[in-house]
Amino acid sequence: MGFRTIAISICCLVAAAPAGAGVHDRAVRIFRRIAHVPPLAPEVTEMVGHLSNSSLSPEERDARAAEVALRSPAFYSTSLVTLFSTTTSTEQLPEPLNDSIAFNVGIIRDNIPYREILYGDHYYRGAPSLNLIPSPTADPTTYQWSPGDNEHYARMQALRIDLGKVGPDANLIRVSQTQAVFDATTPGPVNRQTVNAAGQVTQQHNLVLQSTTAGNVTQYSPDIAGVISTRAMAEAFFSAGTNRRMFRFVLKNYLCTDLEDIKDNTVSSQFIRRDVDRFPGGSHSTFQLNCLGCHGIQDALGNAFAYFDFRDNRMNYRRAQEPTSAPAVRPKMVQNDSIFPDGFRPSDDTWHNTLFSSADPIKPLKLGWRTPEGGSELGGSGAHTLGRALAATRAFSSCQVKKVFRHVCLREPQDSEHTRLETITDRFENTNDWNYNFKNLFKAVVNVCL
Ligand code: HEC
Repeated sequence: MGFRTIAISICCLVAAAPAGAGVHDRAVRIFRRIAHVPPLAPEVTEMVGHLSNSSLSPEERDARAAEVALRSPAFYSTSLVTLFSTTTSTEQLPEPLNDSIAFNVGIIRDNIPYREILYGDHYYRGAPSLNLIPSPTADPTTYQWSPGDNEHYARMQALRIDLGKVGPDANLIRVSQTQAVFDATTPGPVNRQTVNAAGQVTQQHNLVLQSTTAGNVTQYSPDIAGVISTRAMAEAFFSAGTNRRMFRFVLKNYLCTDLEDIKDNTVSSQFIRRDVDRFPGGSHSTFQLNCLGCHGIQDALGNAFAYFDFRDNRMNYRRAQEPTSAPAVRPKMVQNDSIFPDGFRPSDDTWHNTLFSSADPIKPLKLGWRTPEGGSELGGSGAHTLGRALAATRAFSSCQVKKVFRHVCLREPQDSEHTRLETITDRFENTNDWNYNFKNLFKAVVNVCL
């Protein structure tokens, strides 16, 4: 009698698991939406088993079924590559595999907290054992990793290398960017160039970035900022121009927010560079009503990138001649400074969060700023500290949920789904819960829309 009572209460706590052809079709649909390929028969059988398991909650059934699809090599090599393929293009068009896309795939595969995408000291490239040689007669070095081209990654994609493998057989391997930078035999993604005051490359060697002072000697260590300091991101957003593009596209791709969304004509103009006309077309009010809204924010925050550039086909970082001497601001950061000589002239890579100078009480809160670990949301120096601050925002967390939702559900979230997506976002960013585990987002959205 006692046994029977217990059995009944377990049965009635959870909704009855669905059965029949509907479950089979749903398993196939879940698999295809996550992995972007059809499942094999044993995979469907396993998923149907989970989906019909009445001892589990509906959320747990779906999560376990989704896990089967997450194990598929296609989830990494096709689905995730597609998801991030537009993040290194100013036109938001799909690009071939590159070091920034591979970085995204790698840290998701390795369950590294995804917020590290904007500041973590990681880097992914093909294992040496892959021997990326095009043909016996061609130059075997052609497809080896190089700071000066993308052939290595394009070749991995052309050969349909399985990016999902882990352990000793992994094809896509993690190295630290710092290590890569300082390792003399395998140069890192950031180029070791010395650039003189005229911007000419005078020497190739280790770069030195952020400063630390020990005794009276200042040493400069690398300003590693996750994907921001990868070659593909630098090529798209640091080449030519004035280095303003990087801030906009980090915001767009990783916080799902464009400048138009946070534009604010009441912020301080203190950090707007001299190349921005204060009287465009002779009108100061045009500046006040239009230019200030964007440049008051992006020039102040984007100053974090003052030492970066993309030239000679590679990312590089500007430093002076001696390892102990400070890096210097790129000429493009101070170009055309006669347009408004009273404007801001960058002298280092300090950034300021001018959103907090807004007269509007709501606007500065829009991105959901919070104090990042070991830093501040109000300002800092260099790309790493800015990356940390951006990754600590609520906008960053909800952006990842939104991206996975669109990818799996093939539509925008509806208002009625808002509360559930907020709950998923809470769990995603809670360091005691999912701790920014990106794969959990796939498991969770399946239950919302499929
Ligand atoms: C919606 C936001 C926005 C507004 C409004 C805006 N800008 Fe910009 N501006 C940008 C971005 C983003 C860039 C970087 C473009 C790039 O390099 O791809 C930029 C670049 C510039 C540059 C550097 C161009 C170069 O590469 O040499 C100048 C100068 C400039 N803006 C002036 C102005 C002036 C003057 C106004 C007002 C009439 C204005 N901007 C309004 C976002 C904005």
